[in-house]
Amino acid sequence: MLGIVFTSLIEMLEEKVSPEFADEIVQEAGLETKGSYIAVGRYPFDDLVKILQVLEEKTGKTFDNLQHDFGFYLFGRLAQSHGQVMAGRESVLDVLEVLDDDIHVQVKALYPDADLPHFTVLSRTEKAMRLRYESSRDLFALAEGLMDGAAAHFGDELTRETIKTATPHTYEFSLSVV
Ligand code: HEM
Repeated sequence: MLGIVFTSLIEMLEEKVSPEFADEIVQEAGLETKGSYIAVGRYPFDDLVKILQVLEEKTGKTFDNLQHDFGFYLFGRLAQSHGQVMAGRESVLDVLEVLDDDIHVQVKALYPDADLPHFTVLSRTEKAMRLRYESSRDLFALAEGLMDGAAAHFGDELTRETIKTATPHTYEFSLSVV
């Protein structure tokens, strides 16, 4: 997993709670990196799982809820730091339509080490979309948070439903905007 994911998560904890809280979480997670990440580095996915597990214990929120909160925050950070990747996109559905063919392709060009998920647009109308998400990491709740973060960014009112398909590591999102 790219360092930018970890630096953003730690930053969120510092901002939303406190720098002390962020330190405490990182310490308790018992990470080899001891929480010193650099944005362009690459680190074990398991570190993310460990941090979220400690947060689960500390906050009483579920693993999925924590992923969602983080995804929401992460979209804002990525949109801010990678404005050029988002250029010309005007709605959450616009972004999702080009996620796999453009946005994450640009991300891969910037960070060749990135382990990106796979998104397929199953259908699209002006106001609705069905989108398939596939990733061995099963971060569908992070994806939900990123989508809600994108909707907030564009001022879109997004309604969505997630369906776990019979295929392992595969989810479908049914999305609509008003
Ligand atoms: C609503 C829009 C987006 C969605 C739903 C989305 C979804 C995701 C998900 C679910 C992951 C976690 C990896 C996995 O599932 O296996 C991910 C990783 C990532 N995405 Fe996106 N993404 C979005 C927009 C963006 C944008 C705008 C950028 C940058 C400009 C970006 C950059 C990245 C990066 C850097 C990673 C980390 C890859 C790694 O750890 O190796 N994403 N994305």
